[in-house]
Amino acid sequence: MRIACLGGGPAGLYFAISMKLRDAAHRVDLFERNRADDTFGWGVVFSDQTVENLMANDPVSGAVIAGEFAHWDDIDVHIHGETIRSSGHGFIGIGRKRLLAILQERAGALGVALHFEHEASSDLDDWAGYDLVIAADGANSRIRDRYAPHFDVDIQLRRNKFFWFGTHKVFEAFTFAFEQTEAGWVWAHAYRFDDDLSTFIVEMDPDTWAGLGLDAMDQPDAIALCERIFAKYLDGHALMSNARHLPGPQAWLQFRRIVCGRWSHDKLILLGDAAHTAHFSIGSGTKLALEDAIKLAEVLNRPGLGRDEALAEYQAERNLEVLKLQNSARNSTEWFETLDRYLHFEPIQFAYSLLTRSQRVSHENLRLRDKGWLEGVERWFQSNAQGRAVNEPAPPMFAPFRLRGLELANRVVVSPMAMYSAEEGAPNDFHLVHYGARAQGGAGLVYTEMTCVSAEGRITPGCAGLYAPEHVEAWRRIVDFVHANSHAKFCLQLGHSGPKGSTKVGWEGYDVPLDGGNWPVMAASDVPWSPDNQLPRPMTRDDMDEVIAQFVASVRLGLDAGFDMIELHAAHGYLLSSFITPLTNKRSDDYGGSLDNRLRFPLEVFSAMRAAWPDDKPMSVRISANDWMGDLGVTPDEAVEIGRAFWAAGADLIDVSAGQTWADCQPIYGRMFQTPFADQVRNEGRVTTMAVGNIYEADHVNSILAAGRADLVALARPHLIDPMWTLRAAAQQDYRRVAVPPPYVGGMAQLARNLAREAEMKA
Ligand SMILES: Cc1cc2nc3c(=O)[nH]c(=O)nc-3n(C[C@H](O)[C@H](O)[C@H](O)COP(=O)(O)OP(=O)(O)OC[C@H]3O[C@@H](n4cnc5c(N)ncnc54)[C@H](O)[C@@H]3O)c2cc1C
Ligand SMILES: Cc1cc2nc3c(=O)[nH]c(=O)nc-3n(C[C@H](O)[C@H](O)[C@H](O)COP(=O)(O)O)c2cc1C
Repeated sequence: MRIACLGGGPAGLYFAISMKLRDAAHRVDLFERNRADDTFGWGVVFSDQTVENLMANDPVSGAVIAGEFAHWDDIDVHIHGETIRSSGHGFIGIGRKRLLAILQERAGALGVALHFEHEASSDLDDWAGYDLVIAADGANSRIRDRYAPHFDVDIQLRRNKFFWFGTHKVFEAFTFAFEQTEAGWVWAHAYRFDDDLSTFIVEMDPDTWAGLGLDAMDQPDAIALCERIFAKYLDGHALMSNARHLPGPQAWLQFRRIVCGRWSHDKLILLGDAAHTAHFSIGSGTKLALEDAIKLAEVLNRPGLGRDEALAEYQAERNLEVLKLQNSARNSTEWFETLDRYLHFEPIQFAYSLLTRSQRVSHENLRLRDKGWLEGVERWFQSNAQGRAVNEPAPPMFAPFRLRGLELANRVVVSPMAMYSAEEGAPNDFHLVHYGARAQGGAGLVYTEMTCVSAEGRITPGCAGLYAPEHVEAWRRIVDFVHANSHAKFCLQLGHSGPKGSTKVGWEGYDVPLDGGNWPVMAASDVPWSPDNQLPRPMTRDDMDEVIAQFVASVRLGLDAGFDMIELHAAHGYLLSSFITPLTNKRSDDYGGSLDNRLRFPLEVFSAMRAAWPDDKPMSVRISANDWMGDLGVTPDEAVEIGRAFWAAGADLIDVSAGQTWADCQPIYGRMFQTPFADQVRNEGRVTTMAVGNIYEADHVNSILAAGRADLVALARPHLIDPMWTLRAAAQQDYRRVAVPPPYVGGMAQLARNLAREAEMKA
């Protein structure tokens, strides 16, 4: 094959090497616009796994590279005058210049024709003599941009500014240094990659950048300013730039996040940064480029595969890995872009949040890396939660939590789940067993399903209610059982179905109208849930007064029944949610339009409930923090305002759910997919939040809590199938101080022993 490689970065060079290794008869011409020893950037970092991949592909260059790596284990986080050091992180670094020199030498030795100072054409017609053209020309690939529609290119320019410096200061640990200036926070990512050289990337948000005057500053002045800001870390060493040819402001870059739907077009193939980028803060760009190169060479030489099949295979085999890394990189990018959220954390929690920012590193990963440090975090968390010095480390999920006069034994919550098993609104034996079992399963707080404030306010004929004397009796029986047989507290979720009412029970079809016996429904406006659902009646002032009175009456009945806490359900497209989202609120009176107006009725309801509920008992509000409809609906930014408004009205906890407010919305599902909203509402709004949504492992719960992304964590479906989820999590973590119902103690002890034995055998 005759192959033209455009670009002599890690991707192009390593691909050329990998092709020649597999078949020396390939003719590979590599064109690089720069001289052999020109390069931007300083050091790059790898993981041990990447080195193993390099050794397996080419032991010759792999051994040279491995022999020259600088290796370190520690991460130092400098914040608010403190240094938090954790260990066991295992990084290796090498100079980019040195890496390229090693690869150039190896490529030359294998017979790759290297053409330096050669600007490669971006017109495919100029490459007629080649069977394959490899676009390895980096993130700004001109040839990719020229044929962009074929690659389905999506480019996002991220907001922060950064400058990639080098310095002779040798950092012992991977260093994150955060410094406050008069214009805002500035931070550095620094690591050693050679005996006397370190990379030193300075990053800040664009307002700070402009505020410091860097938008109009020459490079020498900008460098001098950065040296002053970070003087205490540099020990008198200078910052060095190898972008000296650029005018000052242009040497500051903004990360370009690149995703391509297709990686090849005809004989043109994208490789490395040209195909996809990963933010420098997770240090994986070079790894991706090298691993792409290995895979592409492998499929092109795989016996029996034609060119097009090989290219399809290349993308199919690399895509998942790339998407995973890009996902982590996005989380990490966003963490640095929203740094202000976390600056009020104590240094130890700030460091934990930083270390777990990409969500690739979890609580248990940190334990494996540095048990002592993690136990320090656990002790800090428990001490904070208990208001006294705690010497015994314990999982964050088992820290108590206080809401007004209510003390929860731990932070695990059984999320509200409609059971559609009530008769005329009355809960029955099913509910006694269902809630009783979940309360005995160890969670600190158990929610009821959405319990409706009137017969018309039910979603389905099977929904539970609290609007008649017989309902109070039936609920009291369950509440009494929970209180007598568990340590769980019991929260009553009150709601009104609004436009989603008069529909079938869940297992007969969600949100599908009844076959017969429908009742009229109402909402903020006459917007039906779907073309099949009833057209709701827009609420009048009289309707509003009646609904407020119903909520207040249910609150009083809830008090009679003995509940510990009340939640107002203002999410998921039901009555109050139909006011909050602009997708369904089309009113032109004081209850529609601006967010203040859209919140007016839900806040009237909440305030009336709060007034009827005792002061020492807490209340929460469930919100949909994202309509998943972009700016047309509620956005997470708006959710911060929504959370604050309920908080100001006396809510003690914002239960942050999302979606189900518009039938055609496009949620992005994944592990813990709604937790970023709980994080944003909590840390921007400075309120207490509960996270929910595809959280299913103890490790998820501990990571969310210790990183300060939420105060409580609710699990719904995991509790459907395993009422004892919390006790099982305690056994898995060998946590003994959880309260087990006395008749079940033997089972718990055996489970803990078996799990410990299994873990030992695995180890
Ligand atoms: C600040 C910063 C820090 C980073 N830190 C790390 C890190 O720690 N670890 C890590 O793994 N990655 C890191 N990266 C990412 C890493 O640099 C890239 O992901 C990696 O270099 C991608 O390799 P590549 O060969 O695809 O592209 P590049 O390295 O960009 O190489 C492309 C090459 O093509 C050449 N070229 C472009 N156009 C033409 C043309 N028309 N004709 C001829 N030649 C052309 C360029 O001169 C360049 O040499 C960092 C990136 C930045 C910006
Ligand atoms: C069967 C079922 C019924 C639900 N009913 C309610 C409800 O009554 N009120 C509510 O706020 N959320 C309800 N939800 C949503 C859950 O509380 C939770 O937010 C959602 O299932 C995501 O959490 P998970 O991934 O842990 O299941 C229900 C979920 C399920 C699976």
